[in-house]
Amino acid sequence: HRVLLLGAPGAGKGTQSKRLAAEYDLEHITTGDALRANKDMETEHGTPREYMEAGELVPDPVVNEIVEAAISEADGFVLDGYPRNLSQAEYLSEITELDVVAYLDVSDEELVRRLTGRRVDPETGDIYHVEFDMPDDEAVRERLEQRDDDTEDVVTERLRVYEENTEPVIEFYRDQGELVEVDGEASPDKVFERLSELLE
Ligand code: AP5
Ligand code: ZN
Repeated sequence: HRVLLLGAPGAGKGTQSKRLAAEYDLEHITTGDALRANKDMETEHGTPREYMEAGELVPDPVVNEIVEAAISEADGFVLDGYPRNLSQAEYLSEITELDVVAYLDVSDEELVRRLTGRRVDPETGDIYHVEFDMPDDEAVRERLEQRDDDTEDVVTERLRVYEENTEPVIEFYRDQGELVEVDGEASPDKVFERLSELLE
């Protein structure tokens, strides 16, 4: 399978991609995680950190290179966080084809609630939420961290950048007749069930 999961910041792309990758033995290709792991990498456009901490997009050449390398090594994959603008979408269409393009639809109000309450396990990368989903294990609960860009100010900017740059990408796939809309406000299990149907 070559799966693309689209959705706003906080829509559940990471949560669902991890499950899909495990269930269907796919590579989870996520530009967000890749950039977070290389925040201080020097590029001719500066470091990813400067952009990410402000909620702006990291320049296309940097992310295109990450994605192309990852796709060339993967048999099947689920792509999360890319493409985020039309030029990335065009680049992607030149390097691979996709079998499933799913869009997780979630209201703005819910996105803000999810992002500001998100917690991440720095050891496993597992994603939790202070209200909706906390781990039972006390030791895990204690080591959870908040992402640097999940503060209210940066969240506002990320949602603005999404509207301006990434919503046109949704239209791009919709116009091609490839886009399947999924209700992203359902429970994580329900969303997963729906996505699994698309893969089967
Ligand atoms: P990235 O890491 O991709 O962040 P994002 O797109 O803003 O998405 P998030 O990771 O915030 O949300 P998600 O959809 O994965 O939601 P999650 O599953 O965690 O990018 C970060 C930055 O990197 C960008 O701002 C940019 O600077 C840079 N970057 C990355 N890619 C780039 C690119 N291609 N080009 C240029 N720059 C790039 O869930 C969120 C919360 O909701 C969690 O707490 C979770 O537990 C909860 N939750 C999930 N599903 C449900 C549900 N069904 N019900 C209730 N709660 C739920
Ligand atoms: Zn994510």
